[in-house]
Amino acid sequence: MTEDAFDFTGRCVVITGSSRGLGRAMALGFARRGADIVVSSRKADACADVVAEIADMGARAVAVPCHVGDWASLGGLIDGALAAFGRIDTLINNAGIAPTAPSSLETSEALFDKTFAVNTKGPFRLSALARPHLAKTKGSIINVTSIGAERPDPAYPVYAAAKGALNILTRAQAMEFGPDVRVNAIMAGPFWTDIATSWREAYDADAPSAARRIGRPEEVVTSALYLASAQSAYVTGAILRVDGGVIL
Ligand SMILES: NC(=O)c1ccc[n+]([C@@H]2O[C@H](COP(=O)([O-])OP(=O)(O)OC[C@H]3O[C@@H](n4cnc5c(N)ncnc54)[C@H](OP(=O)(O)O)[C@@H]3O)[C@@H](O)[C@H]2O)c1
Repeated sequence: MTEDAFDFTGRCVVITGSSRGLGRAMALGFARRGADIVVSSRKADACADVVAEIADMGARAVAVPCHVGDWASLGGLIDGALAAFGRIDTLINNAGIAPTAPSSLETSEALFDKTFAVNTKGPFRLSALARPHLAKTKGSIINVTSIGAERPDPAYPVYAAAKGALNILTRAQAMEFGPDVRVNAIMAGPFWTDIATSWREAYDADAPSAARRIGRPEEVVTSALYLASAQSAYVTGAILRVDGGVIL
């Protein structure tokens, strides 16, 4: 019988921002493939709901709430994962926020700092903390960035810059953490999630992409499975666009 290349039985996958949206879809997708999941976001109740969904599927999950913009809290997420499953095979830095302001001049320092803290600083630190544990399992990191990094929307300049920085960190940490730990990014295009609320009507009318539609959250899952699996052993520092062919 052929071995299933995407069987994650016995592997521990830590996913930030997995209470809803793309993170939840990936949590369910990896759980379906046998992985043990660490569900994390700021809200314990919302994480517990996803843990219950995974348990209903017959897989294992724990909730470890964590604010990824809070540098000092990030060690607790790693500790929680190790306490539950004793290992970490994949870290998915998925949590992100896209706040906006009427103009650059009206952007507060607090909004700027929060946007970078959640989208860039948290993934940087969490990856550094996870690295020694991932080295033991020959694991990998997946950063979820945005096509906004390459096709910046003037309504979200700080978000675009923060995701652009995460693309660069992906490449820099891939070099630093190799050869034991691979680091890749999924550069997401428009998906139907809560974060899309502010722009969904504009895209709905005329989605500027080859696919001519907005993605469903579950359509990000196979890319994450690929980047987390040994099938992508020679892929690191890569930025994979999953965007329905948005014109950059
Ligand atoms: N959807 C899109 O069209 C799109 C496009 C490009 C890129 N992306 C990127 O894809 C990723 C997932 O986005 P999504 O669309 O799934 O967003 P979403 O539906 O808004 O979900 C965001 C997730 O992140 C969590 N979160 C927010 N702030 C957090 C914080 N400070 N600490 C920890 N968790 C936090 C949220 O849970 P809590 O509220 O409980 O904390 C939630 O689980 C993000 O990085 C986003 O930038 C999305």
